[in-house]
Amino acid sequence: MRIDIIATIPELLDSPFQHSILKRASSKGVIDVNVHDLRKYGLGNYNQIDDYQYGGGAGMVLRIEPIFNCIEKLKGQRAYDEVIYMTPDGHTFNQKWANSFSLKKNLIILCGHYKGIDQRIRDHLVTTEISIGDYVLSGGELAAAVLVDAICRLVPGTMNDESSALEDSFQDGLLAPPIYTRPAEFNGWKVPEILLSGHNANIEEWREEMAYQRTKALRPDLLEDE
Ligand code: ADE
Repeated sequence: MRIDIIATIPELLDSPFQHSILKRASSKGVIDVNVHDLRKYGLGNYNQIDDYQYGGGAGMVLRIEPIFNCIEKLKGQRAYDEVIYMTPDGHTFNQKWANSFSLKKNLIILCGHYKGIDQRIRDHLVTTEISIGDYVLSGGELAAAVLVDAICRLVPGTMNDESSALEDSFQDGLLAPPIYTRPAEFNGWKVPEILLSGHNANIEEWREEMAYQRTKALRPDLLEDE
C-alpha cells in the first residue's frame, strides 16, 4: 500500500513512521509512506501557500493552486483510491474506517493548516473528509499520523502475528478483554485463575464475556450501535 501525505509542516511526520511496526512494514516494502512539503508547490518568490479569506475574518486559508498542483502531479504518476482531507468537521475516524482504508492500494492524505483549505479543493478533489475527534489541532499532520498508524497495522504483512490485529479493541465492535503477563502473582495481585488453566475453550469464553462486560461498563454506546 502506498500513502502520500501532503503537509504544510512535513517535519511533524519525520518520526511517526520510523519505529516499531511501521518501520518494519516499510523496510519490508509492505507500506510506502511518502510525505510531500506543500511549500515546494508554493507560489511566487516566497512560495506562498496561504492567503486571507474572501469576505474577511481571522485566519489564513490554504490556496487552491499549490494543493491542486501537488495532487495533479501525484495523480499523473498513479491512480489513487481516495484523497482524504484531515479536518475536525469530517467523519469521525474509527476502526471501521481504518479497516476500509486498509483495503485500498494508493491513498493521498491532505493535511489542513491555519484556518483550513479553500472549499473548492474539498468540493472537487477530496473524496473523504476525516476527523480524529471533536477537538481542533493546529494542523492535520498529527491527525494524519494517527490515521496512517491505524490503517497500516491492518495491512497484511505489517504485524508479526497476523491474528493480533483482529483481536484489537473495536475489531468485533467490543473493547478488548484485560490482558496479563508474568509473574502470575505480584504484590499479592493475582492473574485470573482461568488464564493459567490451559483450557483454551474456557479461556476464549472468559475473554468474550470480559470484553462484553468492559464494553457495557465503559462504552455502552458501542452495544447500542448494533
Ligand atoms: N485538523 C485539525 N483538527 C483535526 C481533527 N480533530 N481531526 C483531523 N484533522 C484535524
